[in-house]
Amino acid sequence: MIELRKITHDNFEAVLELSLTDKQKGNVDSSIYCLARAYVRILNDEKPPMIFAICHNDEVIGYVDIGFYELAESSILREKYGDEVTYGLNRFMIDKQHQGKGLGKQAMKKVIGYIKSFPQGKADAVSLSYWMTNAAARGLYASVGFVETGAIWDGQTGGDWNAERKDIEYAEVGARLGL
Ligand SMILES: CC(C)(COP(=O)(O)OP(=O)(O)OC[C@H]1O[C@@H](n2cnc3c(N)ncnc32)[C@H](O)[C@@H]1OP(=O)(O)O)[C@@H](O)C(=O)NCCC(=O)NCCS
Repeated sequence: MIELRKITHDNFEAVLELSLTDKQKGNVDSSIYCLARAYVRILNDEKPPMIFAICHNDEVIGYVDIGFYELAESSILREKYGDEVTYGLNRFMIDKQHQGKGLGKQAMKKVIGYIKSFPQGKADAVSLSYWMTNAAARGLYASVGFVETGAIWDGQTGGDWNAERKDIEYAEVGARLGL
């Protein structure tokens, strides 16, 4: 059974030990980075990200990091869909030993269920992004209802993406699920 569990003294080490294949390492920030970033947010009186250990039958198999965002007027989600507030899926991963067994999809359904409880306030949508070359992420998110927004940007610099560019490994695409 898949569960989202808060990070505790007991599961903390297992979260830090989660690993990906060398090829996947650039797809998502490490759990150490996510937890360190959460600490900085808390010290600066910002809303903490919602970080959970993803557990399968009591074993830690992944983690998820969710944020709560009020969107700028210029946001594509605001202009295109009228979204004012979103939950953003900042990071999501399943350990390399547990991938390809349907567990990521089950965990994403739990994540969406959690977001629908509006833990940090009401919101219009869930948003996320992934590298254009990340076929597994694209397939997973589409399978639970996310739709690409059409936004593509340079995932390294955050700048505009030029469709003429051939180095698509740096293209990041946005996707959205309405709530
Ligand atoms: C992306 C990731 C979370 C998928 O987790 P998973 O447990 O392996 O996925 P599942 O087995 O639950 O598969 C769910 C769906 O994802 C898609 N999918 C999974 N692996 C895939 C692959 N290698 N290629 C294409 N689609 C894939 C399929 O649509 C699949 O549904 P289906 O089996 O019904 O066709 C996992 O591969 C991972 O952690 N990757 C590295 C980190 C990462 O890229 N995170 C996302 C950052 S945006």
